[in-house]
Amino acid sequence: MSASPASRPPRSPQPGIPPCRRPSSTRRQRPGAPWRAVAVALGFLASTASAQDLDLLRGQRNYLAACAACHGPHGRYDPALPGVQSLDPKPADFSDPLFNSREPAGDWFMVTKHGGALIGFSAAMPAFTDAFSDAEIEEMIAHLKTLAGEHNYPPGDLNYLLAFRTKKAWIEDEVVYFNRFTRRPDGEDAVANALEFEKRWFARWQTELKLVHEFEGGQGQWDEVEAGAKYVLYDHLPRTFLLSGGADFAVSLRSGNEAEAIPFLAAAKGLGEAFTLQTSLKSHLPFRDPGGGDLEWASVVHWMPTPWPRGVFPGLELTARAPFQPGDQDEVQWTLLPQFNFGLSRRGHVRAAAGVEIPLNQRTYDFRFHAYVLWDFADGMFWEGWRKGRAQPAGISEYE
Ligand code: HEC
Repeated sequence: MSASPASRPPRSPQPGIPPCRRPSSTRRQRPGAPWRAVAVALGFLASTASAQDLDLLRGQRNYLAACAACHGPHGRYDPALPGVQSLDPKPADFSDPLFNSREPAGDWFMVTKHGGALIGFSAAMPAFTDAFSDAEIEEMIAHLKTLAGEHNYPPGDLNYLLAFRTKKAWIEDEVVYFNRFTRRPDGEDAVANALEFEKRWFARWQTELKLVHEFEGGQGQWDEVEAGAKYVLYDHLPRTFLLSGGADFAVSLRSGNEAEAIPFLAAAKGLGEAFTLQTSLKSHLPFRDPGGGDLEWASVVHWMPTPWPRGVFPGLELTARAPFQPGDQDEVQWTLLPQFNFGLSRRGHVRAAAGVEIPLNQRTYDFRFHAYVLWDFADGMFWEGWRKGRAQPAGISEYE
């Protein structure tokens, strides 16, 4: 077992090969030839998870022996248990499908192996690095993943890093502040600030609301407001593949009140253990003149060489925009956007990114500097999870 990839510490929050796989009986059939041909064409077949069956029964036995006193035999803590009463915060409910599906197995592996404190959770969650082998921890996590029963929520293992131009396939509970500086050859530089609020609904929906403000030539004004919805069309954890679709509607707040629809498709795919690929295709369709719109493709590859959420992760994004009526513009306008993503909080729920977008052909601007700060509010309040978790009075002392 120790030589198999699955017994190595899994990556997180991006998984590559997910550390915990379903038992083979529940694994879905390999896709048929036509779908595989499409997937090859899209470049999504660079990795496939190798078969690795985990001993779920042993995972359950170890869970009942080592974890159930605090987490409850069915994943929900029992407030009547003496050990639980002093716990603050109380452990989350593993039988809740939203929570259970949202958290990547790789994160849970890290919390179980190294304890809550190192990842910005409470130190009352002990480290089990000496008590269990990596394979045994994986089995317990695989057991934890069964505690929510059958459900339709997509797996959080397929939640990859947010880029700048590529639409994310994953659905979030998140607030993001974006900043963009555009350097123009004529000296008319522009600065745009935007605030976006994303909220999950039901198992597979997300809505988003975005407000954009722009400074141009020394003049500041509200630029546009955007509202939209996204739905997860397909997910496949063993193949680390996620596909979503949706639409945004943007209304210009400048004079003219131009409005447009922006339908999109977005996909995410793990590439081996440390790389992720995200791709999106969207179209801007002005209501007054849909023919004056465009088609925009963007892809980004991120490299996450470590499973710790706090770190610096490089990414490279490539975009292509094709106006329906190019006029005297290039038919396809390419840009390249090297960037870095920074995990700021220990828990990884507050992150920042910065990058520079360079036009490769149509040079209407010299470059654009992009930055954002995001807060994933499902993983805790903004100010939580930055420092080593504090030990409980009656808790474990090894991280104090
Ligand atoms: C002494 C009580 C205790 C024991 C024993 C315990 N836990 Fe925990 N665990 C906690 C507490 C408390 C938290 C919540 C920490 C927080 O939210 O700050 C937690 C959190 C977790 C989380 C993180 C969930 C999240 O919020 O993402 C995982 C995963 C976890 N425990 C797994 C295990 C496993 C697996 C075992 C057994 C091998 C175990 N725990 C044993 C108390 C315990």
